[in-house]
Amino acid sequence: MFSPFRLLRPFPSRTSISALAIRAYSSSTTTMAPTGKRIVFTGGSGKAGRHVIPYLLSKGHTVLNLDLVDFPDPTAGVFTLKTDLTDSGQVFNALTTHYNFGGYEHGYPEKAPDVVIHFAAIARNMLVPDNECFRQNVLATYNIIEAASKLGVRKILTASSETTYGVCFSEGKTPYHSFPLDEATYDRDPMDSYALSKLCGERTARTFARRYGHDIYALIIGNVIEPHEYATDFPTHVNQPETRRRNAWSYIDARDLGQICDLGIQKSGLGFQVFNATNSTSTTKEPIEEFLKKWEPDTPITRPMEEFEAPLSNRKIREVLGFKEEHDWRKYYQP
Ligand SMILES: NC(=O)c1ccc[n+]([C@@H]2O[C@H](COP(=O)([O-])OP(=O)(O)OC[C@H]3O[C@@H](n4cnc5c(N)ncnc54)[C@H](O)[C@@H]3O)[C@@H](O)[C@H]2O)c1
Repeated sequence: MFSPFRLLRPFPSRTSISALAIRAYSSSTTTMAPTGKRIVFTGGSGKAGRHVIPYLLSKGHTVLNLDLVDFPDPTAGVFTLKTDLTDSGQVFNALTTHYNFGGYEHGYPEKAPDVVIHFAAIARNMLVPDNECFRQNVLATYNIIEAASKLGVRKILTASSETTYGVCFSEGKTPYHSFPLDEATYDRDPMDSYALSKLCGERTARTFARRYGHDIYALIIGNVIEPHEYATDFPTHVNQPETRRRNAWSYIDARDLGQICDLGIQKSGLGFQVFNATNSTSTTKEPIEEFLKKWEPDTPITRPMEEFEAPLSNRKIREVLGFKEEHDWRKYYQP
């Protein structure tokens, strides 16, 4: 009978690792539904991933987290393989690693996963110098998409960003070209290095999807909101709307982002796609067209918008993936 205790006996002082191994092992054997996929998730220890991974586990998937740091909640049963994605050798190797110590019980080495979800990044400007942000993000995205594609993974989701629309990290007050911001017609023309790295990631995805004929969905993620941030941040977000201009008065609840990832896993055969990944509702108190005409009078509105439709519109994920937001901000904060 396999015992993670036995495996770890030579290292008795590392009790926290033993406990984590046991939890990860038992969660893999008890919660995996027959339809669950084996997912390698990168950057899962970060702000978004720490909510998306538990959502995916709740849907019966098995997840291995590739990150530079451990998953923040040691009770969640998420195994993290410390992997630097800017090193292609590490990335190829990590994609065929057991998901936890329980993998040794199977009696065969691990195969490539069913799905790769790539969230790891230098997640904004001004964390490292611009050229380093660009280098790490472009290289990491290339490495994971190349390795997954060459190892036969048929579904990849990759994180792009609202910043690619060109206003978030622009110098000064740059006008939006038009509203709503949509995936099909808007010329996304950023002037900053982080957003440029994300556009390069999208182009990398498109290139590999064309070569391998598989699915790569790039999620143009809006400003990520964790559950506790409705209390701490939304009073300002809602009552001082000028502070949300760079985020186009839109957001994505981190748990709803989990739903989007799960829907992306379920829906196959679309090839390369980009999807705005935002919640349905704007962060404004006034109906959105009224608000935009007042605050952005020189920017055209190109189609009738729903009463409180987020300007960074999620219409495509609603129509194509069947997304239904569960975490409208009004459930958590009443202005
Ligand atoms: N947070 C937002 O509002 C937001 C908005 C739009 C897009 N995004 C994108 O969504 C994704 C997740 O964002 P987040 O807010 O969770 O970011 P985050 O910074 O909180 O987490 C990113 C994670 O990636 C890991 N990482 C960085 N470089 C790595 C490397 N070379 N190898 C392995 N792991 C590495 C970090 O350790 C971290 O845990 C990112 O791609 C980000 O660009 C985020």
